[in-house]
Amino acid sequence: MEMLKGKVALITGSGRGIGRAIALKFAREGADVISLDIDIQSARETTREVESLGRKAQSYSCDISNFETTQEVLKAAIEHFGKLDILVNNAGITKDNLLLRMTEEEWDLVLKVNLKGVFNVTKSVLRQMLKQKSGKIINIASVIGIMGNVGQANYAASKAGLIAFTKSLAKEVASRNINVNAIAPGYIQTRMTESLSEDIKKQMLSMIPLSRFGAPEDVANCALFLASSLSDYITGQVIVVDGGLVM
Ligand SMILES: NC(=O)c1ccc[n+]([C@@H]2O[C@H](COP(=O)([O-])OP(=O)(O)OC[C@H]3O[C@@H](n4cnc5c(N)ncnc54)[C@H](O)[C@@H]3O)[C@@H](O)[C@H]2O)c1
Repeated sequence: MEMLKGKVALITGSGRGIGRAIALKFAREGADVISLDIDIQSARETTREVESLGRKAQSYSCDISNFETTQEVLKAAIEHFGKLDILVNNAGITKDNLLLRMTEEEWDLVLKVNLKGVFNVTKSVLRQMLKQKSGKIINIASVIGIMGNVGQANYAASKAGLIAFTKSLAKEVASRNINVNAIAPGYIQTRMTESLSEDIKKQMLSMIPLSRFGAPEDVANCALFLASSLSDYITGQVIVVDGGLVM
């Protein structure tokens, strides 16, 4: 049986990596998919794959850090599908540097995409979910937002902020039957992590009890659970998907 039959899901940053894996997993489980990405070519590719699975799909070019653009794009997307059941706030970036060397631009950009971007997108769709009196919101945070990391003060702050945002919103909308949860992935093999040096990768691997890096599919499996009715009694939680790195 398809777990998301008849649902409409919006996934930000679904052009590649974890976002694309979530889009395809949801489509295989019966959902129609709205793909939002700053890189429209990659979002279109995801849309083609979703359609090849027999689902409806639309892709939109959108920089989620821009409030006005996000509002306009999501208004059009919701009008097109007539409803929205699931939102996955997945788009995120890193601009790593030791704090002493970190520029104001590096700080601002990461906070603007990873945190304000989530505010922009969520605000654009929340009214629709409130009207429907149902919804699932899934925020992709990070273990770095829980444990911190050298050279990632901006990223860690954005992801810790996202966890606090998740809990606050969960309390605000629980009475309207909207669940808000976060996933904190550990080291997942995507373009975001491929640039790390072999030394750092080796060191990370030695800290993971399950002795392997995660795949985007591992995060998508958890997102599917949180998007489905199996998690109806779960809200305001952070599920760590990291092979046991943080425990
Ligand atoms: N890869 C990991 O190990 C890991 C670990 C923990 C958390 N995460 C989080 O998971 C999410 C996805 O990461 P990933 O590894 O798939 O990254 P990725 O870099 O492979 O993909 C990110 C996607 O977001 C899009 N994007 C970037 N800025 C955007 C913007 N301003 N507006 C719209 N779209 C934008 C990119 O074009 C890209 O398609 C991120 O939030 C990241 O912080 C990743």
